[in-house]
Amino acid sequence: MQQIVILDFGSQYTQVIARRIRECHVYSTILRCDTPAARLAELRPGGLILSGGPSSVYAKDAPLPDAGIFELGVPILGICYGVQILAQFLGGKVEPGQKREYGKGTLTVTDATCALFRKLPQQLQVWNSHGDRLTTLPRGFMAVAVTENSAYAAIEDRQREFYGLQFHPEVVHTPRGKEILRNFVHQICGCDRSWTMRNYVEQAVEQIRAQVGPAKVILGLSGGVDSSVAAALIRKAVGDQLTCIFVNNGVLRAREAEMVREVFGRHFHIKLLYQDATRLFLKRLKGVTDPERKRKIIGRTFIQVFQAAARRAGKARFLAQGTLYPDVIESVPIAGNPAAKIKSHHNVGGLPRNMKFKLVEPLRCLFKDEVRQLGLELGLPKEIVFRQPFPGPGLAVRILGEVTPARLEILRNADWIVMDEMKANGWYYRIWQSFAVLLPVRSVGVMGDERTYDYTIVLRVVESQDGMTADWVKLPYDLLEKLSNRIINEVKGVNRVCLDISSKPPATIEWE
Ligand code: XMP
Repeated sequence: MQQIVILDFGSQYTQVIARRIRECHVYSTILRCDTPAARLAELRPGGLILSGGPSSVYAKDAPLPDAGIFELGVPILGICYGVQILAQFLGGKVEPGQKREYGKGTLTVTDATCALFRKLPQQLQVWNSHGDRLTTLPRGFMAVAVTENSAYAAIEDRQREFYGLQFHPEVVHTPRGKEILRNFVHQICGCDRSWTMRNYVEQAVEQIRAQVGPAKVILGLSGGVDSSVAAALIRKAVGDQLTCIFVNNGVLRAREAEMVREVFGRHFHIKLLYQDATRLFLKRLKGVTDPERKRKIIGRTFIQVFQAAARRAGKARFLAQGTLYPDVIESVPIAGNPAAKIKSHHNVGGLPRNMKFKLVEPLRCLFKDEVRQLGLELGLPKEIVFRQPFPGPGLAVRILGEVTPARLEILRNADWIVMDEMKANGWYYRIWQSFAVLLPVRSVGVMGDERTYDYTIVLRVVESQDGMTADWVKLPYDLLEKLSNRIINEVKGVNRVCLDISSKPPATIEWE
């Protein structure tokens, strides 16, 4: 498949570059910056992109590429640190900047014949973030654009098709950056627009059939986006050879189990093994108040229940998982790269690696937004494809203190109202997550002429790109008022509603 290879020098934006390229309908992969040139040659990339990175090329442990990449005869685009790499290897000079150039700048294109700026205006808003700067051009290069602070903001060696951009075309603060990248992949690298989810369905179906043959496949369906899309795709490929196992762990949202059975069992005709283990989970959670213990109990019990169900499903050779591309990108840990530090810290609901199955992971090369597109392509309803994330340990981590059937009932009812109102008011799909949390504290209230002594519900509504950081959402007062009124009036056992106005960090999105 035609592709662009991005060599990762540790930028927090490397994955964003890959996503932008794919938005241009060209497949892209991220590889370690030191991937041998011979291996790259085998992949026959249409072009290479050298990502940014936090280092200086002169630093002792500076990440460097194999020098052979400049002999492959493919176009190369260096971004930010990638420009320093061009200079270092091709005979230019980089000097430490007096001060870091950071933030918005205006780019003036000085050579409109440069293919990178095809059909773009002479002046462009760009986003800078670099310390060192290029002071002498490498041999064969010319400046094609400047900024207030840099005479070499964009450079090219037209003959060898090597390009460098001191700014970041991939970020949203460079509003027309995607067009620059589009010019690179289509005009310069000559890639066509063949990467679409429609094409991917066919390709993936063939691959799954080739991998699985006549064997049986099982898949743990959680109702989340990834496992749902994987299920629909594998069903398309191997039909009844697929059995999905859906475990009700007793801490699901209201009507969740019914919805999953309706969509996958009745609509998609997927063989669905529904395992209601509510009693077992709740028995084990009885009396437990420590958040980490709750998570462990749920994780462990899930594995046991799943394994027992898998045995009942019959002899399956394959286990399907909805693993996504960001989980499998192999990158070099580079000091100073914030992306290296903020790896996910929990994944309850995962299965142990030692289960005796071969893995089928048809979403392994996809980003989340592609998985959603694929879901739509496969005919999954919008309610599933665009649903908000939900933690593996479910409502248990949203009930502070002990999880009891009575408390679950209260939280389910409040949670349903939150979801209902957020959808009805057009907010649900615009934000990352919106949910209710039940506090184990009770406070005094008055209802009619009666004194009440009831629980408190907290509203948690956040915006986020990836769950790693988050901001609380400033919902309109009338919506907050409606939520509060409905929860207090309709949910028995609640007489107070509070709003969580903490960001992550230092708070987390979930309360436990
Ligand atoms: P926190 O609370 O750490 O959550 O800010 C970040 C994101 O992760 C989700 N989350 C989980 N997802 N298994 C999951 O699959 C879990 O155990 C888990 N815990 C938290 C959370 O909903 C948020 O989107």
